[in-house]
Amino acid sequence: MSISKTTIDELKSRIDILDVIGDFVTLKRTGQHYKGKSPFSDEKTPSFIVFPRNQNFKDFSSGKQGDAISFIMEYDGLSYVEALKYLAKKYGVEIEEEEPSPEAAQKQSERESLFIILNYAKDYFKNTLFESEEGKNIGLTYFQERGFTDETIRKFELGYSLDQWNALENDAKSKGYNPELLEKAGLIIKKEESQYDRFRGRVIFPIHNATGKAIAFGARILKNVKNQPKYLNSPETDVYHKSDVLYGLFQSGRAIRQSDNCYLVEGYTDVISLHQHGVENVVSSSGTSLTENQIKLIHRQTENITVLFDGDAAGIRASIRGIDMILQQGMNVKAVVFPDGEDPDSYSRSLGAMGFQEFLKENAEDFINFKTRLLLDGHDNDPVKKAETISQIISSISTIPDQVKRAVYMKETSNLLGLEEQVLYAQLNKILISQKKERQKAASREQPAQLIEEIEQVQQKEAFDSVIFQEKESIRILINYGFNKIENEYNLVEHYLEELDPVEFTKPIYNDILNIFKDELKKGNVIDANFFTNHPNKNIRDEVLDLISDRHEVSENWERYRIYVPKEKDVLSDSVYSNILRLKFHKIKKLITLNLEDLKNETELDKITKLQKINVKLKTAEAEFSNPLGIVVSK
Ligand code: UTP
Ligand code: MN
Repeated sequence: MSISKTTIDELKSRIDILDVIGDFVTLKRTGQHYKGKSPFSDEKTPSFIVFPRNQNFKDFSSGKQGDAISFIMEYDGLSYVEALKYLAKKYGVEIEEEEPSPEAAQKQSERESLFIILNYAKDYFKNTLFESEEGKNIGLTYFQERGFTDETIRKFELGYSLDQWNALENDAKSKGYNPELLEKAGLIIKKEESQYDRFRGRVIFPIHNATGKAIAFGARILKNVKNQPKYLNSPETDVYHKSDVLYGLFQSGRAIRQSDNCYLVEGYTDVISLHQHGVENVVSSSGTSLTENQIKLIHRQTENITVLFDGDAAGIRASIRGIDMILQQGMNVKAVVFPDGEDPDSYSRSLGAMGFQEFLKENAEDFINFKTRLLLDGHDNDPVKKAETISQIISSISTIPDQVKRAVYMKETSNLLGLEEQVLYAQLNKILISQKKERQKAASREQPAQLIEEIEQVQQKEAFDSVIFQEKESIRILINYGFNKIENEYNLVEHYLEELDPVEFTKPIYNDILNIFKDELKKGNVIDANFFTNHPNKNIRDEVLDLISDRHEVSENWERYRIYVPKEKDVLSDSVYSNILRLKFHKIKKLITLNLEDLKNETELDKITKLQKINVKLKTAEAEFSNPLGIVVSK
């Protein structure tokens, strides 16, 4: 099929590349041109540029470039003619041949012939809904009972499939379509002896791609038949990969970009109902649990997702797991929970458009807060449950790539849980470090030699950092609680110094402070913070001030959420015990790294043997300390 040159020229004169690409990519003006995230690759920093002046685009991450027509060809995998037809429809330009003939379908590439047959089936189901007796009596009545208006039904191109074995197949054949293509498109099922329509006696929800072509169908049962799934969906085909598709994106894309937010719901009917109630920035993952690619599709349009959860607790708990993936992509996530037994479809109907939109606005809660409340619900007084909650929240936060955002969440979580930020940071850092190690491990599998040295340096630095952190903890405990009695007997200071002897601290200022404790104790003095805040050495004064500043102030949220936080004073002997163990543990780890370093550089055999013996001893000691700390030591 060909399109005349005058038609093409007329079309080209109407096309505005910003408008064409703007349907799929969020573009921001920067000087003369516009910038967005590449739709052809997965990137964090936008490198996709549109030049309105010469009506071109260039994608620096994939190297693709061209005009509006080639953009559509690339974006949807279309031929030149198909791309022109899409644009003609968008700009209301008449082109000669409207409906592709069955013969044309035969001649096209496999992909394009699938599009053609799917388009035919979509139209057939639509006509059946509006024109056949069965379609009107059963299908249309059903949609109307659900409150869908004709306008909504047309917007989503809903349809009906007759309750007969071969209705679609026979109609397609009578119009000259190849039945094999029907099977390839997932519309009929072929068995050895027989073949039959896949979606019999069901209402049809076409699934569209980004440019509005039908690529698959969801079909809902109407009768209550046992052993039949409520929805049947098209199988995967050459043009339908369900993990890469969002239901409603075609109808919702513009509203998502305009409102700079995307609502995420569970089902076809939720998307449709929301549209009917004035909320048009909504998609659903239709049948699959949310995938990374689906999130990326949304991310190209906006930074903001609001997840709408049906009101049943078990379902929420199951689906919040997927949300970490959204955080991981650096997006902002909010959550809205519906009352028990309601889903977005039922609730929008019961509140009406205004009430529903108001409800969404008032109930959207930041996801981290939401998750914290959800996990704590009813377990505020259970310390085990609470500790678990903290780890899960911190693990969610750790997936957020942006450090500044993480910090904001840490502060909020600290308020919400009534815990000091440092306590939370200790956990966060642990996770971040292990993530870093994972990444390094993965990388080192790829390029071993080159990276090993870097990793060792990092590990060595971490070993030092851990020691210094524990040294700081020791000093902090000594200063704040030195005169407390341990097991009603010792002063904590005495106990500490005994335990730590002959350990020297690595950081000079900590060592100075430790020595002051020692000297004073020899004189029979157990000193406290006051002693140091009056100390003549400014560095020591500042360091100590830092260590005694309101670290353990419990916020009022503590009371509000009735969260169990053991006061440090109450668990002092535990803190001391684990701090000392940790200190020794990390010192040993540090010695191990230093020893390995020596080993690597040593060339004389007997010295190597000696160093190896030391390594064995250190490893044994490491294991000894790690057990009571619950740390798993790598061999
Ligand atoms: P729901 O059971 O919540 O359906 O499944 P729904 O969308 O609210 O449908 P109505 O309101 O009962 O008509 C949510 C989504 O899970 C998929 C569908 O995409 C559905 O919209 N699903 C559900 C299936 O694919 N197969 C099923 O058997 C059930
Ligand atoms: Mn529903």
